[in-house]
Amino acid sequence: YVLGIDLGTSSVKGVLVDRGGVTYQSISKTYPLINEKPGYSEQDPHLWYKKTVELVSELVSKLNGKAEKIEGISFSGQMHGLVLIDDDLNVLRNAILWNDTRTAPQCREIHNTLGKEKLLDITKNRALEGFTLPKLLWVKKNEKGIFDRIKYFLLPKDYLRFRLTGNIQTDYSDAAGTLLLDVANKKWSEEICETFGVNKDICPPLVESHEFCGTITSHFADETGLSSTTKVFAGGADNACGAIGSGVLTNGKALCSIGTSGVMLSYDESGNKDYKGKLHYFNHGKQNAFYSMGVTLSAGYSLQWFQQAFRIDDPLESLFKELDSTLIGAQGLIFTPYLVGERTPYADASIRASFIGMDTFHEKKHFVRAIMEGVTFSLKESLDLLRENNIEVNSIISIGGGSKNNLWLQMQADIFNTRVIKLSNDQGPSLGAAILAAYGCGWYNSLEECAKVFITYEKYYDPIEENVEKYNALYDVYKKVYSRTRDLN
Ligand code: XUL
Repeated sequence: YVLGIDLGTSSVKGVLVDRGGVTYQSISKTYPLINEKPGYSEQDPHLWYKKTVELVSELVSKLNGKAEKIEGISFSGQMHGLVLIDDDLNVLRNAILWNDTRTAPQCREIHNTLGKEKLLDITKNRALEGFTLPKLLWVKKNEKGIFDRIKYFLLPKDYLRFRLTGNIQTDYSDAAGTLLLDVANKKWSEEICETFGVNKDICPPLVESHEFCGTITSHFADETGLSSTTKVFAGGADNACGAIGSGVLTNGKALCSIGTSGVMLSYDESGNKDYKGKLHYFNHGKQNAFYSMGVTLSAGYSLQWFQQAFRIDDPLESLFKELDSTLIGAQGLIFTPYLVGERTPYADASIRASFIGMDTFHEKKHFVRAIMEGVTFSLKESLDLLRENNIEVNSIISIGGGSKNNLWLQMQADIFNTRVIKLSNDQGPSLGAAILAAYGCGWYNSLEECAKVFITYEKYYDPIEENVEKYNALYDVYKKVYSRTRDLN
């Protein structure tokens, strides 16, 4: 077996996959967010480790003492989070996560000092509150004592890997989300480090996502029951692993992931895309490849919010059941999903969500439908941006909560006006991590070869022309809402 570990924002998930690509076990362990002040979002890295030990021990026990059957481990991780460790390799403070928004002043500082153009030139991305460099500069300004003691900064899954192997590394796909990496040239940017007074030595050594990073420590072997010969491979950012785990490894393929947040992502090999910061551009987990990505911050979260805010106890499946599959649009009700601001295409942290066109006959089912449509329209804006920039998208693999419902899958095909594919083994980024481990172990000659075995399609959803037209008309209205409501917030 190989073990793919996805260190997410709310839980760590592990999948054990055999050589034939069959998932043998999949379990997860949850942990909380620490929100000390508005906008703050932190986690305790020790807890990630503790929960991972529990997870791996449980998986090992399911193998009835045959722990040596697990040959290799790799990771997928929540991106951008800042983990700081000192000379003794101890954690200096809680990790500051990707969804922490305290760093607006640092983002301004980055743009003003280096210049937006220069930043885009080197990192291919604009400074956003969630990214790592602004967090590092926040620590420099507000916790100087800690900043001065930094030996290394790490991304979340790098910390976990370090605890498993004792070795310090990060991979290109996660490094790309720091704003410290020269993305096209695959090296830490001396210019950015110098400009912002960051010692380049605190940047961890860079490796490829499938690279061997060491075997597990005897301590981790003792704690979990794993064999001490278990090999560990670098792994990648969750979105890069999501791309691998759904086979987005060639031109023409895109991924639509609707989880808490939503992602529209497409494959690229050029290394020189210039989106003027409107889309993210990061290194892929596949060597020398890249991906372009738009993000909807509140995707599945919009539905969760709706259920919580109105104390709706019905599970999502029963809410979906109430929807009329023949209806297009929520009878005049339109939702924009900016509950916590928006990334793509607006990069606007202060905009907020809206329902437009409410009428007395609207009921719960119309609101649910309007939310699903609004989230999908928002992802369509990212898809449009990709296409406007000459990225070819022929088919979209849909994963996450948004791919669990037929009606939503058909809605995606109709709104995107593109074939949408549902996987039969949607394990998300953790499957991508397992594929990296399988390739790293030498089971296959390439990620593609491995993906062919590990990834199977369950169903295709093709756009229905009549629906496409109706959705296009609604999309035109949806797109106007941002500019017309922006100033009201
Ligand atoms: C990507 C991003 C999120 C996190 C979630 O830029 O911030 O998708 O990776 O884990």
